[in-house]
Amino acid sequence: MKAIEIRKKYLNFFKNHGHAVIPSAPLIPENDSSVLFTTAGMQPLVPYLLGEPHPQGKRLTDYQKCVRTNDIEEVGDNRHLTYFEMLGNWSLGDYFKEESIQMSYDFLTQELQIPAEKISVTCFAGDEDCARDEVTAECWKKAGIPEERIYYFGKDDNWWIAGETGPCGPDTEMFYDTGKPKCSPNCNPSCGCGKYVEIWNNVFMEFYKDENGKYTKLKQKNVDTGLGIERMTMILEGKETPFETELFSHIMDKLVELQKVDNISSRRIIAEHLRSSMMIIADGGRPSNIDRGYILRRLIRRMIRHMNKLEISLDELSTLIELNVENLKEMYPELENKKEIIKNVILEEKDKFVKTLTKGEKEFEKEIAEIRKQGKEVVDGKIVFRLYDTYGFPPEVTEELAQENGMKIDKEEFNKLFKEHQEKSRAGSEQKFKGGLASTGEMETKYHTATHLLNAALKQVLGQHVHQKGSNITAERMRFDFSHPSKMTDEEKQKTEDLVNSWIQSAIPVEHMEMKKEEAIKMGAEAMFIEKYGDIVSVYKIGDFSLEVCGGPHVHNTSELGHFKIKKEESSSSGVRRIKAILEE
Ligand code: SER
Repeated sequence: MKAIEIRKKYLNFFKNHGHAVIPSAPLIPENDSSVLFTTAGMQPLVPYLLGEPHPQGKRLTDYQKCVRTNDIEEVGDNRHLTYFEMLGNWSLGDYFKEESIQMSYDFLTQELQIPAEKISVTCFAGDEDCARDEVTAECWKKAGIPEERIYYFGKDDNWWIAGETGPCGPDTEMFYDTGKPKCSPNCNPSCGCGKYVEIWNNVFMEFYKDENGKYTKLKQKNVDTGLGIERMTMILEGKETPFETELFSHIMDKLVELQKVDNISSRRIIAEHLRSSMMIIADGGRPSNIDRGYILRRLIRRMIRHMNKLEISLDELSTLIELNVENLKEMYPELENKKEIIKNVILEEKDKFVKTLTKGEKEFEKEIAEIRKQGKEVVDGKIVFRLYDTYGFPPEVTEELAQENGMKIDKEEFNKLFKEHQEKSRAGSEQKFKGGLASTGEMETKYHTATHLLNAALKQVLGQHVHQKGSNITAERMRFDFSHPSKMTDEEKQKTEDLVNSWIQSAIPVEHMEMKKEEAIKMGAEAMFIEKYGDIVSVYKIGDFSLEVCGGPHVHNTSELGHFKIKKEESSSSGVRRIKAILEE
């Protein structure tokens, strides 16, 4: 049975049992900055679980698009996914254990025709916060599951909460027996050997956990269930992994056709991260250096690295995107509607990454060969730092590469070096600097670098007549005065902003050099008050577009800046314009 059919059957079944069908919330939560992505079906429904009346009633059913990235490193094995779809049915203070369990049993055995003897269930074993859930076990027996297939486990297995605090409660999980032999006489559903596959989780949400870890009863008793469509498709298609189901097989086959090197784990990573990235982009996500944008960036970059590993030309990305749209558009029409945007975003990110990667990977290979020679297994923090500092190579990419080589990185040392370097460079620039910039806090440092980027961007957008006429920085904003005869058009402002942000996203190292003043002038370095500096000046170079005499302080890599935004463009004095801009998270 195809995934879309399972979804249709599910929504229909619950509709026939008095549930209103509600649409999936977007992957990027609306008005909730506490989470990066929607990670569970219950997330968009929290206010209603807490007691607010839902406009569509007390019985709801939906499919929910979810992204969970805490296991991102595990993707590549036979089951982990970052994107998945949950089918859910909800009772907001309406039915509880008995009806919920009966409906689950009927759906599995009658609608999906799963033989009852293939189903085992688990219930909450009880502790000081909540009693042993014998009611649930009784309900299962009544529905048709014999005692020997009912198991009890503690909070680790049979308690559900999204994060640390919030609505929660004991749950009952349903497992499908794959028919594989027991791994030991004690083999049971909580054992990860693969004999039992979890297929559905019904949470009996009647508690609230507060910041002190205290549980109180909610106003109402809710039911929150989640059935992962990828797993169910796998079971009903008789496959061993989701990657063999129709959700992924078209891409997996295509990758076999394209690859020059064979590696199943890489194929899975490519297929999974491609689908995940496309879903995130369709819901408005864009790559950046922070938060959800950074996760999207990691997904795309990891996918590209594995395409390289299989020696698949990156030109094939368009074909793979097209193929995914064709295969998934019935389930997710947004993929077809946003196809061009998805392509543009992924291809643009690819171009940026290729530049960083080529240099960094070569260096990494050299280093790793040396470490092997020495018979060691840990990549020294110094190396990670050098790759970052010199090539803008993100530390987590180094970490992933190390893992693939069976090694670890010394994260602690990297963090120490990173901090030390930052402090040293700030302290150094404080002593040297005679140019009138005073504050050296973290934000101010970022604004100094942003000033160089803005200066360079204005030259490109407006012309080489642009020169810095003044600058003022606080922790909250930057102000930049420059020579230009007329008011900037909206288009010019946009272009300038975009250019600065594209440099930030390209993660370009900020290089620091010391040289004789004459030499700096000869090199064409920009300097506002060159006469103010001593004989030896400090020069900052960013990519091939910015070279400025400056006392700093500066960040080490443009990627540290966040998002640049022009707030205002106005006249400062005759022939001089003023831009006020900010850096956002
Ligand atoms: N909230 C539960 C889960 O995500 C059931 O939907 O597993």
